[in-house]
Amino acid sequence: MQFIDLAVQQRRIKDEIDANIAAILEHGKYIMGPEIGILEHRLADYVGVKHAIGCASGTDALLMALLAKQIGPGDAVFTSPFTFIATAEVLSLLGAVPVFVDIDPQTFNIDPANLQSAIQAIENNDASIHPVPAYKTHPGSLPTVLKPRGILAVDLFGLPADYGRIDTIAAEHGLFVIEDAAQSFGAALNGKMACSFGNIGCTSFFPAKPLGCYGDGGMCFTDDERLAEIMGSLRVHGKGHHKYDNVRIGVNGRLDTIQAGILLAKFNIFPEEIKLRQQVAQRYTAMLKPIPNIQIPAIPAGYRSAWAQYSILAADENQRTELQNQLKEAEIPTAIYYPKPLHLQSAFADLSYRKGDFPISEEISDRIFSLPMHPYLAEEDQQKIAAVIDK
Ligand SMILES: Cc1ncc(COP(=O)(O)O)c(C=O)c1O
Repeated sequence: MQFIDLAVQQRRIKDEIDANIAAILEHGKYIMGPEIGILEHRLADYVGVKHAIGCASGTDALLMALLAKQIGPGDAVFTSPFTFIATAEVLSLLGAVPVFVDIDPQTFNIDPANLQSAIQAIENNDASIHPVPAYKTHPGSLPTVLKPRGILAVDLFGLPADYGRIDTIAAEHGLFVIEDAAQSFGAALNGKMACSFGNIGCTSFFPAKPLGCYGDGGMCFTDDERLAEIMGSLRVHGKGHHKYDNVRIGVNGRLDTIQAGILLAKFNIFPEEIKLRQQVAQRYTAMLKPIPNIQIPAIPAGYRSAWAQYSILAADENQRTELQNQLKEAEIPTAIYYPKPLHLQSAFADLSYRKGDFPISEEISDRIFSLPMHPYLAEEDQQKIAAVIDK
C-alpha cells in the first residue's frame, strides 16, 4: 500500500500527459510557454479570483507574496507554529519576524482568540499577554520595536483556516492576510474556494499535494491587479517592460512550461478527485469513529477539506508509536506531520521561544500521525487499516 499513490492517477491520464509534454517539446518554449497562461486562467477561474501567477514552488509563492507586500526587517507577521518550515522560513529570509500563535486543538489551524492576544502583545510590546519572539536589532540600523504587518494563515492538511474571524481581526488591526494554501487547493469555506482568502493565496504543486505536478511548482492568487502585476514582475527578477529592464529586486521564480502541461492534464480530473477524496475521508471517519483512544479529524460546518492528509490523534506519544509500529508490520505506511513545532526548531533559536509557549501545538506534535490518503484508496485497504488500529 502506498501513502500517496500517484501511479493510479498517472495510468488514468497518461495519454494526455504524454501528448501535452510532446506538444511542449515540439514548440520548444520551455520557459514561460503558452501553457503557463492557459493554466493560470483555468485555475484562477476555478478558485474564483481575477489573477493567478504561476511560480517555481509553494515556497516561492509565499516569498513572492511577502515581497509584494514589502515585508522586511522589523516587520512582525503572525503565523502558526504547527506547519511545514516553509511558512515561517520565508519570513526569516526576508528579515521579518514570525510571531507564532497557537492552534485550535480540533482544526489544527491558527486559533483566532490567540491571534488577538498575540497582536495585542506585539502592539503593546508586552510579553505578559502572549509569548513574543526575541527581536535583536543592530543599533542604528533597524527599528527597535516590531511592527505588526500581517497574518500568514495556514490551511493545514487541506482544511481552510477560520477566515471569517481572521479577516475581522486583520481589519481591526490594519493587517494584511496571506493564505498558505499549499495543502488546500480544492478546499472551500462557505462555498468560497481555498486560495481566494486574504489578499493573496499561495499554493504548492509539489507532487504529493492535492494538485501536484512532477517536480516543483506553485501559484499565487489574488483579486488585486497591482499585487498581481508586482508578483508577475518578481518571478522574473523584478522585470519591468522587458526582462533586461529591472525595476525591483526579484527572484528566478517561474513555473516550468512542462510542469504547466502536466498540471493541465491533471486539472481535468481534479474536481472529480476532490469528490473522491471526500468519499475516502468519509469512509475513514465511519470506520475509525467507533475506535476508542483515537481522535479523528473534525471538519466544522461550512468547511470542505481538500484532504491533503488524513491525520488522527493517538492518546499519547507511546500509543502513537505502538499504532505506527502495528501499521508498519502490516505494511501500511504512516507519517508524522509535524513531529516538532516550529518554535522549538533550531532554525528559529534566535527567536528565543521556549517549550511550553504553545502547548496545543506541542501536544498535537506528540500525538498526531497521518494515514494513507489519496483519491484512489480502496475501501478494502481502509478496512485493513481500521482493523489494525482497532487491535
Ligand atoms: C503548509 C506548507 N507551506 C508551504 C509549503 C511549501 O511548498 P513547496 O514544497 O512547493 O515549496 C508546503 C509544502 O511543502 C506546505 O505544506
